[in-house]
Amino acid sequence: MELRDKVVVVTGGASGIGAGLCRRFRDEGVRGLVIADLNGDAAAALAAELGGKSHAVNVCDETAIAALVAETEAEFGQVDLFCSNAGILHLDGGDYWATSSPNDVWQRNWEVHVMAHIYAARACLPDMIRRGAGYFLHTVSAAGLLSQPYTAAYATTKHAAIGFAESLAISHGDDGIKVSCLCPQAVDTAMLGGSDGGSAGLDGILSPEQVAEAVVQGLAEETFLILPHEQVRQYHLNKAQNYDRWIGGMRKLRRNMRPPTLP
Ligand SMILES: NC(=O)c1ccc[n+]([C@@H]2O[C@H](COP(=O)([O-])OP(=O)(O)OC[C@H]3O[C@@H](n4cnc5c(N)ncnc54)[C@H](O)[C@@H]3O)[C@@H](O)[C@H]2O)c1
Repeated sequence: MELRDKVVVVTGGASGIGAGLCRRFRDEGVRGLVIADLNGDAAAALAAELGGKSHAVNVCDETAIAALVAETEAEFGQVDLFCSNAGILHLDGGDYWATSSPNDVWQRNWEVHVMAHIYAARACLPDMIRRGAGYFLHTVSAAGLLSQPYTAAYATTKHAAIGFAESLAISHGDDGIKVSCLCPQAVDTAMLGGSDGGSAGLDGILSPEQVAEAVVQGLAEETFLILPHEQVRQYHLNKAQNYDRWIGGMRKLRRNMRPPTLP
């Protein structure tokens, strides 16, 4: 997809990777830029700077997502690219068992990382299918392909995000719908809070601008996976080739890492 003259919505657009995408999309010449975020003030400030529209939206609220899409379609005629990017990160906490996070943390991760993507697709698909064109960019994580020590709720729901994106691509590719999953390792955002990113930071911490560059390239090539850290491709192949060996490697990685310190 070429971004020039397109109408783009970015959730979690007020900060970090989302803000990096918004800046880059503006530079690419989109005709409509809609920045949606729980933090409505930050979204409004960035929209004022970039010449976009802002919405204070909780992506877990299906009614709010439907209204966001309906208002965008009413104002710009269509949504060409919907970027489901909002995300949250919790460490397992306590004794760092895979089950340590309380149920409300699991539930919130499920809602932000999976249901929000479903709500966006449900709202956008009718018009996209009618037009025979539309694109979903899901910000997932390398943790959605490769898991991640000490963050079971995050890694599990990011895997589920990949699962839904696959279903979306398989079910609606013939309708002209494109899907990409953005799967970086560590990126220098508020989510990392100045930490070294733990295991996610071992291959280096990218800037949101570097991630946005990889996204523009990935959207142009229309690849399902967009991997700003190129190493992830080989790790993913290693996992597919020998799952047991890969689990052993991840256990070793976990043993050798202390839990990262996050804000
Ligand atoms: N930073 C990393 O190292 C890294 C690595 C891989 C994937 N990711 C993913 O990138 C995406 C963006 O994260 P980031 O690193 O830019 O973090 P960030 O904290 O800078 O930005 C996340 C944004 O999402 C918004 N948000 C959170 N919950 C929301 C909700 N319920 N409704 C609407 N907005 C909500 C926040 O207000 C914030 O503006 C997330 O999906 C994250 O999982 C981040």
